[in-house]
Amino acid sequence: MADTRPIGIFDSGIGGLTVARAIRQALPTERLLYFGDGAHVPYGPRSASEVLGFSAGITEFLLAQESKLVVIACNTASAAALAPLRERMPHVPFVGMEPAVKPAAEHTRTGVVGVLATVATVQSAVFESVVERFAQGVEVIRQACPGLVARIEEGAFEAPETEEMLRGWLEPMMARNIDALVLGCTHYPIVRPLIERIVGPGVRVIDPAPAIARRVEKVLHMNGSAAPPDATGGLACWTSGPVVPFRLMLQRLGLPVADVRAACWQGDTRVTPCTSLRT
Ligand code: DGL
Repeated sequence: MADTRPIGIFDSGIGGLTVARAIRQALPTERLLYFGDGAHVPYGPRSASEVLGFSAGITEFLLAQESKLVVIACNTASAAALAPLRERMPHVPFVGMEPAVKPAAEHTRTGVVGVLATVATVQSAVFESVVERFAQGVEVIRQACPGLVARIEEGAFEAPETEEMLRGWLEPMMARNIDALVLGCTHYPIVRPLIERIVGPGVRVIDPAPAIARRVEKVLHMNGSAAPPDATGGLACWTSGPVVPFRLMLQRLGLPVADVRAACWQGDTRVTPCTSLRT
């Protein structure tokens, strides 16, 4: 049965737009409803219970807008909230992120791979379990990148300070002979050109967004809830942060300058459309 309800997607900020972009490319007839939690970005330094509270509030908001599927387009929120939300809401189909250690471990020739992620993700049980399941016999160098999400949210994609930060993390990994690098945070593909310049052509950089888009497609087909082939897809966004910079960011990422609306938190766990004007 064709289903024209939207796919809900969320992240702490603009990072999940890299996932939304891949879903739009793979599924152009689907309507996407994106929520960026600009009021609370970054999630990386926060506790798992705090991130779970925000994720639950945003999920309720996306479901109130009739989302047929919820994509947690954030590794940090997926590590903290995917399992508990699935348990609390067994009727809701969720797709979450997981650091792409598996393809990295499958393709490495040197036997050494690197992962860049937030502090919360590298410390999570999910990360441990991914390494345990998929990287037996492979050395996985995990590197937390405090401050990088904030730089990306500011739009400092090519700034010398951003490059310096990245070099500080990547050069020691290169000295240990990595030949694959996993982008374990959905913000990081935004600075992929800079990362690729630093690591050079000998290191394969892996962004899991296209694999997530394929997973979304599979779940929609399994549930019989894909949009009809002649539907007009689209992208509508909500942000709990400033609206104007968010709109500019869509442009910079090559996404259609969609309808961007302001959402407001009521306390820490409930989010609603803002009733007063915010720019
Ligand atoms: N984009 C996020 C992730 O994939 C969140 C980063 C953050 O807010 O610290 O982990």
